[in-house]
Amino acid sequence: MLNRDIAEVLVSRDEINSMVKQLGHALTEDYKSKNPLVIGLLKGCIPFISDLLKELDFILEIDFMDVSSYHGGLQSTGDIKIIKDLSTPVKGRHVLIAEDIVDSGRTIQAIRALLLYRGALSVKVVTLLDKPKGRVVELQPDYIGTTIPDAFVVGYGLDYQERYRNLPYVGTLKPSVYASTEE
Ligand code: PRP
Repeated sequence: MLNRDIAEVLVSRDEINSMVKQLGHALTEDYKSKNPLVIGLLKGCIPFISDLLKELDFILEIDFMDVSSYHGGLQSTGDIKIIKDLSTPVKGRHVLIAEDIVDSGRTIQAIRALLLYRGALSVKVVTLLDKPKGRVVELQPDYIGTTIPDAFVVGYGLDYQERYRNLPYVGTLKPSVYASTEE
């Protein structure tokens, strides 16, 4: 049913599965003796962090923050709001942020600065999708599943007006979807 709103699949379910496995191997190598705090940024991280955690073969803890920048629309506003903060102290911890997408880079830049200010030993970023063409700040994610072109994408956690997060792949929407939801 959701499929009919999709113009093009950019990253298939099989491709996601293999990226998640590769990222899991690399992270297991780098973090096996660091007992990191793995932080997911709600809500987009949910499918990715849930799959990624199962590929991480070392001691870790998880926590979540809810930070909003898009407010359900198409473009980052640069207005970062903390809606839910961490319940775990980060002081003295190695932190790994798990993201569905790095676009303008503003979210990660703000959160990374905040966590370092709070005393994290290190803050690195693993993202399934990197959209370097969207960047407005200088920021390079440490672990990337794949790079995508400058298109608005939904699925596997990514939404348009809070919909399509539950698609098992990443794709673009048909123009008719935007037309029918415009006010
Ligand atoms: C999206 C996405 C990233 C962020 C990336 O989250 O999940 O967290 O935007 O954009 P940026 O690099 O331009 O800052 P959003 O704020 O839309 O919240 P959501 O995860 O609840 O969809």
